[in-house]
Amino acid sequence: MNFQELITERQSTRKYLGKSVDKVLVEKCLEAARLAPSACNSQPWHFVVVDDKDKIKEIGEAAASLGMNKFAADVPVIVAVVLEKMNFTAKVGSILKNKDYCMLDLGIAVEHFCLQATEEGLGTCIIGWFDEKRVAKLLGVPKGKRIPLLLTLGYPDCELRKKIRKPLEEISSWNRY
Ligand SMILES: Cc1cc2nc3c(=O)[nH]c(=O)nc-3n(C[C@H](O)[C@H](O)[C@H](O)COP(=O)(O)O)c2cc1C
Repeated sequence: MNFQELITERQSTRKYLGKSVDKVLVEKCLEAARLAPSACNSQPWHFVVVDDKDKIKEIGEAAASLGMNKFAADVPVIVAVVLEKMNFTAKVGSILKNKDYCMLDLGIAVEHFCLQATEEGLGTCIIGWFDEKRVAKLLGVPKGKRIPLLLTLGYPDCELRKKIRKPLEEISSWNRY
């Protein structure tokens, strides 16, 4: 798969086959995330892989509200993305430049994970809407640490959809805003 094919194939997968995901493939996705760039090479992340069915069900329940994310209770793997402390330089930079570098870092790492999964024929869905406190408790994430995102992972049970995106002219310009 070339890069264009990869980014076209990646989509939010909300329905999965019952087939489990080999640990080697999960580790390949984690390795892709590990190699992601981050501000001052801070790498402010920790990935908790959950493949225990009962825990997945409970996390899925913590993610389901207002009709959203019901699918998450029935997926082969969930990865909780925990935000770790930035290193000193990234923290100082974030304050001086008033930019939340650590969230940008997490987003890039998560997309690395998703694209690697796509190359392996796996589907993912990034989940930002969930009961963070409940998930933290379930996974023993220490108090004070944030979990900005969850990821679902498994073999997709759905067709490739057409992407709905703003046109290029709206999202880009040359030489001035
Ligand atoms: C930060 C973030 C949070 C998201 N949260 C959710 C979520 O809670 N539930 C969900 O079903 N999809 C969620 N998504 C997936 C988006 O809805 C999806 O990426 C977008 O609609 C584009 O569709 P595509 O991923 O299929 O290309 C999230 C995506 C991102 C990047």
